[in-house]
Amino acid sequence: MTCGLVDLILAGGTLVTPEGMRPGAVAVKDGRIVAIGNDAAMPPAREVIDVAGRHVIPGAIDVHVHFREPGFSYKETWTSATQAAAIGGVTTVFDMPNTNPPTADAGAVRAKLALASAQACVDFGVYGYIGEGNLDQLAPMVETGAVAFKLYLGSDNPLVPCPNDGAVLDALAILAERGVRCTVHAENTPILAWRGAKLKAAGRQDLAAHLEQHADIATVEAVSRIALFSEWTGCPIHIAHENCRHSLPLIAAAKKRGVDITAETCPHYLYLSMDDAPRTGDLALRVKPPVREAGHAGPLWDALASGVIDMISTDHAPHAPAEKRRASIWEVAPGFPGVETSMRLMLTAVNDGRITLPDYVRMACEAPARAFGLDPQKGALLPGADADLVVIDMNRDSVIRGEDLHSLGNVTPFEGFRTRGLPVMTFLRGQLVAKEGRIVAPPGIGRPVRARRLRGG
Ligand code: DOR
Ligand code: ZN
Repeated sequence: MTCGLVDLILAGGTLVTPEGMRPGAVAVKDGRIVAIGNDAAMPPAREVIDVAGRHVIPGAIDVHVHFREPGFSYKETWTSATQAAAIGGVTTVFDMPNTNPPTADAGAVRAKLALASAQACVDFGVYGYIGEGNLDQLAPMVETGAVAFKLYLGSDNPLVPCPNDGAVLDALAILAERGVRCTVHAENTPILAWRGAKLKAAGRQDLAAHLEQHADIATVEAVSRIALFSEWTGCPIHIAHENCRHSLPLIAAAKKRGVDITAETCPHYLYLSMDDAPRTGDLALRVKPPVREAGHAGPLWDALASGVIDMISTDHAPHAPAEKRRASIWEVAPGFPGVETSMRLMLTAVNDGRITLPDYVRMACEAPARAFGLDPQKGALLPGADADLVVIDMNRDSVIRGEDLHSLGNVTPFEGFRTRGLPVMTFLRGQLVAKEGRIVAPPGIGRPVRARRLRGG
């Protein structure tokens, strides 16, 4: 290997890729991986860190986070959120457009990229919003650097309303031509609105009413429709926060007939059910789509193992603690933080024998990079890739406590969860950003990522 003096070597650990694990070292120069191999074959380095007894994986890529700025800095800031991400082993995030103003035109993309650049300590991408009124902005948003688009098929948020199906088809045609993936919140808005009104009129205010509103059929219909629209238009799509066992066969069937469809699920759908509501403070479990009754998690784990679900995201959606503790379910803000706890929860699943560590690297690093066109720069332990590296200690026991989290909105449904396995060092392009639960890099070292064109002409 002829790379001269390198900046950093992580030596003596176990390297993990989707293909397997092996002892070895990683050498880094100018922010990139320049060599991978046996410890003895490494070039001379300015700094060598001994990671004996630990594993080295690529930084996780979380393609679904809500970092709240501009507009909702009291819930979260780019500084607090990216610090949480770095400590959690996440080195690239894609931020959703339901900010204020929403990320709905080129100017808003530019403004969010500037805001994030000033604060972030991990790399980031920005989603553009698809609405009835901004179809002429989709191409300019791509040119300004939007990495992907978000389609809210199920939404009652006036900032990001659900467009009609005609507008959806037009939007997908534009994105197909540009080769950009469209992430879809797949629920049927009229079903949600109709049922919500009925439940409210009946005086219901409990968590189960939220589940009844977001009935399985609302997501099954929307997954089915968007898979058809994707097939028709050729637009690559991504199913956000998959949560329902009944939609899994639809995703599997679409994949089988060649539709470019990927899917994610989140730790709360894998680990929790309505049975956890008393422990999580009941109404605080509210999230859209909902954590359902027991019986969905098993099929979701199976779908992850078989590749029907491609990746893990978090839907990190923090709210101020007071917004999570209201008396009526309709007033409780939906969602909770996730970016800091996802990796340790998934490493716990590795220790429990549910998945292997190479499986985890596939679903947290390789699959998101490939689906959204960040490969080969992100998500891989390969020479030439960005040196986004996480050192993990598979034997580290800890307990999740909201008060320890770095998000401003720190009410977590995983309060009190025992985990085994922890990210202990996170490097962003070769620079140490987090160590042992603390941030060691200044805000502003994160950069926007660029996605390559996926397909189309
Ligand atoms: O629970 C949710 N929270 N679901 C969404 O779709 C939006 C998110 C938020 O931004 O709070
Ligand atoms: Zn979301």
